[in-house]
Amino acid sequence: MTGEPRLGDVFGELLRDAYAVHTGIGPRPLVGGRLPRPVIEIIERDDGLVNGAPAAHYLDGPEHWQPYDHRAVDRTRGATLDVGVGGGRIALVLQERGVPVTGLDTSPGALRVSRHRGVRDLVLGTVDEHVGDGRRYDTFLLLGNNLGLIEGRERAPAFLAALAALARPGAQVIAHGTDPYGTTDPVHTGYHEWNRQRGRLGGQLRLRLRYRELGTEWFDYLVCSAEELAELVRGTPWRLTDVDDRDAPYYLATLRLAGPGGGERGRQAVIGARGAGGR
Ligand SMILES: C[S@@+](CC[C@H](N)C(=O)[O-])C[C@H]1O[C@@H](n2cnc3c(N)ncnc32)[C@H](O)[C@@H]1O
Repeated sequence: MTGEPRLGDVFGELLRDAYAVHTGIGPRPLVGGRLPRPVIEIIERDDGLVNGAPAAHYLDGPEHWQPYDHRAVDRTRGATLDVGVGGGRIALVLQERGVPVTGLDTSPGALRVSRHRGVRDLVLGTVDEHVGDGRRYDTFLLLGNNLGLIEGRERAPAFLAALAALARPGAQVIAHGTDPYGTTDPVHTGYHEWNRQRGRLGGQLRLRLRYRELGTEWFDYLVCSAEELAELVRGTPWRLTDVDDRDAPYYLATLRLAGPGGGERGRQAVIGARGAGGR
């Protein structure tokens, strides 16, 4: 015992327990062996900030969604890859609407919950790993703030190249982001400043998730402004064509594959990035 968390499938365990609380299926976490214990995702940031967020919303039906989730689903068309499908809340609704949707996730436990809830087509892995499977898509969804998976300046080109390699001509990415810069909280403004001093984007969060005795490795997750996103997209096979910020500071960014050959350029870039140690 070191006091440090054991590395594990934090998101999967968290979702499994949230699902047990939600449905009564499976053992539920209890307080004092009797009362249901709320399932809380613990998010540590590398400046020492710790936040807790209830996990139940990962299972929410559309009646509890935010307006931008509805608008994202309404814009979805064709073969769709839900990147970071989580508990399948979005994929289930798309399936009901007859949209051919594939849920991708790096968490085996999240995929188990999604499967149990009825999501039919699920793949374990990252977008880069999925390129070799030969599947191609018209829409990529990065919802639940998953624009964050773009990580920052270093990872963005390879991540967007992998999406382009998975894309059919005319494909779109619909991504939910949050502009972090409206805050006046010195804990956050100080963090943004510290990030810039060390050569990172202000909202390039360095995080570790924890649940019970488990933890993840430290990883980067980006919250950025639409202007920063436009900068990250420049020079990639994608073009930022729309930013819907009706629910500011939250926004939905739409990227479109730029011109013919976008998919092929993406595939070449993925091969190049792999050679350079890309994921
Ligand atoms: C914040 S949750 C969002 C879940 C879902 N999109 C939603 O809106 O409810 C992030 C999800 O992305 C998954 N994830 C994290 N890193 C990933 C990666 N590199 N590739 C694919 N999925 C990833 C996590 O396991 C988790 O299920």
